[in-house]
Amino acid sequence: MLNCLGHLEYRGYDSCGIAVSNSSIQVYKDAVRVAELKKAIPPFEGSLGIGHTRWATHGKPSRTNAHPHVGCQNEITVVHNGIINNFLPLKQKLIEEGHAFSSETDSEVIPHLIEKYYAGDLEKAVERALADVKGSYAIIVMGYGENALIAARKDSPLIIALGDHENYLASDVPAILDYSSRVIYLEDGDIATVTADNVSFRNGGKSAKRTEHKVHWSVEEARKSGYEHYMLKEIHEQPNVIRDTIGNWLLDGEPLEDLKRMSEGGMETLLILACGTSYHAAMVGKYIVQELLGLPVRAELASEFNYYGRILPETLAIAITQSGETADVLLAIKKLKDVGCRVVAITNVIGSRVSRLADRTIITRAGPEISVAATKSFIAQLMVIYWLMMHYARVEPKRQAELVLQLRQMASRVAQVLDKESEIAGLATYFAKYDDIFFIGRGINYPVALEGALKLKEISYIHAEGFAAGELKHGPFALLGPNKPVIGIVTNDATHQAMLTNIREVKARGSPLATLVSEGDDSTDTLADFVITVPQVDPLFSPVVNTVVLQLLAYHIARVRGCPIDFPKNLAKSVTVE
Ligand code: G6P
Repeated sequence: MLNCLGHLEYRGYDSCGIAVSNSSIQVYKDAVRVAELKKAIPPFEGSLGIGHTRWATHGKPSRTNAHPHVGCQNEITVVHNGIINNFLPLKQKLIEEGHAFSSETDSEVIPHLIEKYYAGDLEKAVERALADVKGSYAIIVMGYGENALIAARKDSPLIIALGDHENYLASDVPAILDYSSRVIYLEDGDIATVTADNVSFRNGGKSAKRTEHKVHWSVEEARKSGYEHYMLKEIHEQPNVIRDTIGNWLLDGEPLEDLKRMSEGGMETLLILACGTSYHAAMVGKYIVQELLGLPVRAELASEFNYYGRILPETLAIAITQSGETADVLLAIKKLKDVGCRVVAITNVIGSRVSRLADRTIITRAGPEISVAATKSFIAQLMVIYWLMMHYARVEPKRQAELVLQLRQMASRVAQVLDKESEIAGLATYFAKYDDIFFIGRGINYPVALEGALKLKEISYIHAEGFAAGELKHGPFALLGPNKPVIGIVTNDATHQAMLTNIREVKARGSPLATLVSEGDDSTDTLADFVITVPQVDPLFSPVVNTVVLQLLAYHIARVRGCPIDFPKNLAKSVTVE
């Protein structure tokens, strides 16, 4: 089990644990990497067990928050991936019914719920418990004295690997490849009962049949779940990241009291700070705040702000950082806190230094991002900003309702973009031969042009620049011509006409041209050499679908050029120096 967990650390590595059933259920867990846990556990025996490696979403990395989680009687033990969105009311009710909780996690409600419904049949108890649960999950349940593991999934992956008088369950193929290549993929809603010799399935209250597949991956390939690079895997994880990040909390609760005060006419100004890709999320955030709240807002590079940033009285600061460790962001937060400003952090890493310094931390649920080039963390950051700002939006109720609906549909819109991957890869083959590529956008898609250029330069080493399209004629025009392709992001908002004018200007100067337009928009068909359509969304959400196209484009260009995509030269994932 520990070997298998080691191969799953790319999914999370802030804590881990195992539970084994023999004369009792023994649980060993801690906020350490798998290798350290391995050294710390005493020798023991058992032929039934479950294990987990965690990436904190609810509750900091700690021994008590690590999985497996157990019910009160120490008889029901559970590992869980995903997010239980309604865990708070469930937990409250279970506490009233006498259940004692030991962790801050959402996952711990599952063993307690199963315990509540257990009346001699573990599978039935799991089925009943899951009927109360809202959210995403892949769970494996072990009951004391049982010879079967019960597993279930919804929106989180889970597989069964078949062996000879032994069977395995795992969230991904890399975990089990050393032991088996015969795999069954669970489907949404499946509940599986797995013993050493038998596997059976139920779905929607009826028994179900699932097909066995042969996995042809080499062990090395499988570590990336069959994707050639972590970056591509992370791009493809984005629909799930969106689901997990917005979850059920959309417009529930009171996300940020300070913003409420501001939206009601307080005196504060809003400052959004970040570096790199996170800064582009900050820039998109600025447009979102302006559109939805109509408040004064600045988006600044933390590295510049530290030397020149003027702090206006009563500034509320939002610091965006995937790693939570970026030195310039940390410095900026200290500078703000020294003069008494409140700082809210949006980060992907619970317990990171930024989250410890900030007054309030909002966690993005992107999961560990291995590839140096940020992709899914950017989309998750945007999701948090949309959620926050839509909560306090001062727009017509009808528009508010439409935006909420569209935000809920974002995961499927991104999945639609991913379906276009082969078309985008074809375009990449064409662009890969150039040495300079320009990206242009306007308004809320200006930062997307910057992000498209950043993605491309960092992984393909092509010189790429992003421009506000209206600025081309103030200098960049001098560079245009047949060797300088331009990618234009055309949005169906107030900038549409102006953008078309800019695109005509580009074409007139002989640059090869590709455009990104919404489905049904044929306005660039006669101008552009290539047109990529993205799903129709409210212009406010267009950065999400457009960015995913540009991530795929950068990835495939870098792939054609044979670059080391996940670990580009001279770059680091986490920049802990000024
Ligand atoms: C590095 C990474 C980028 C990232 C930037 C900011 O440069 O390579 O991908 O956008 O740092 O990192 P942060 O963790 O603060 O978001």
